[in-house]
Amino acid sequence: MVTLMNQNGIPETLQFEDDQLILIDQTRLPSEVLTLRCSTVEQVHDAIYRLVVRGAPAIGIAAAYGVCLAKRGVRDDYLRAMDYLATSRPTAVNLFWALDRMKQCLDSCTEDQQLHDRLVAEARRIHDEDRQMCRDIGFEGAAILSGCERILTHCNAGGLATSTRGTALAPIYHLHEQGHAVEVFADETRPLLQGARLTAWELSQAGVPVTVLTDSMAGGLMRAGKVDAVIVGADRIARNGDVANKVGTYPLAVLAHYHAVPFYVAAPSSTFDLQLENGDAIPIEERKRDEISMQGNRTVVPEDADVMNPAFDVTPAKLINAIITERGVIRSPISSIQADFESAK
Ligand code: MRU
Repeated sequence: MVTLMNQNGIPETLQFEDDQLILIDQTRLPSEVLTLRCSTVEQVHDAIYRLVVRGAPAIGIAAAYGVCLAKRGVRDDYLRAMDYLATSRPTAVNLFWALDRMKQCLDSCTEDQQLHDRLVAEARRIHDEDRQMCRDIGFEGAAILSGCERILTHCNAGGLATSTRGTALAPIYHLHEQGHAVEVFADETRPLLQGARLTAWELSQAGVPVTVLTDSMAGGLMRAGKVDAVIVGADRIARNGDVANKVGTYPLAVLAHYHAVPFYVAAPSSTFDLQLENGDAIPIEERKRDEISMQGNRTVVPEDADVMNPAFDVTPAKLINAIITERGVIRSPISSIQADFESAK
């Protein structure tokens, strides 16, 4: 197998070849760049659950390919795979969006012998469309960030979280390639350090200057006037513009508001859940105690103490200056995404 490199010089996050889903194992970065091969639906479910592949768009793409690994040509097996993969993680709506697309593809195919090829073609379409969405978000976002040199981001909404260039990082890649002097502050993003391990890794591979901060430094940096803008990704956006993203995004938005630093969200249309009236209805994943109570093999929380470990929080629309999508920019005040989406087309 040839490891394909994307245009930022890093291996493709996801590849599907010879009926195997090949993933960069994001649990091993940055110390090791390894791939994990999945040839069963169960392996793909496990890879999503363990964050081998993570980030809303990448989870959706992985699940779409995962469906193709069910028993070839057996309709009920594909349906079982869809139901099972839907239980891998609850918050990123891209997972359910991609599985719905696969279900529609299954329903529209009347010849069982053609099912496999049709489903693989649909999964590849979802993957390719995401590449285009990332490019368009990069273009739209670069226009908004063009006057900003010092940009803060949280978690990883880059190439590793999508097909290629990411959502929040796509405008930064675009500006860097155009010769703008941009530098990035990457929150480390406790507890699993997606910012320190993944954002810092992929930006440095692309030659973009990046400094890792502990999550609690952002306020001090803003107070010192050292942040021109904040940009983050999203896992699910409700109809009123409330955004679920990695835990810690909401306090960052409050800080940005207090310090009058513009706060942007970048997300493709596959991340919008227009069925949900507001962010209160977004299911928030609660993860295992160990992720917080252990550091490697060492216990760092006394056994008698409880631990809370929500993977995401919700940022109210009123704290967001604009949501950058592949269809255009939805600006504050964000009242109805539906209407804004239609007029952004
Ligand atoms: O738990 P993770 O690593 O999947 O969380 C990822 C995020 O919160 C990202 O910001 C979001 O999915 C957007 S990815 C383009």
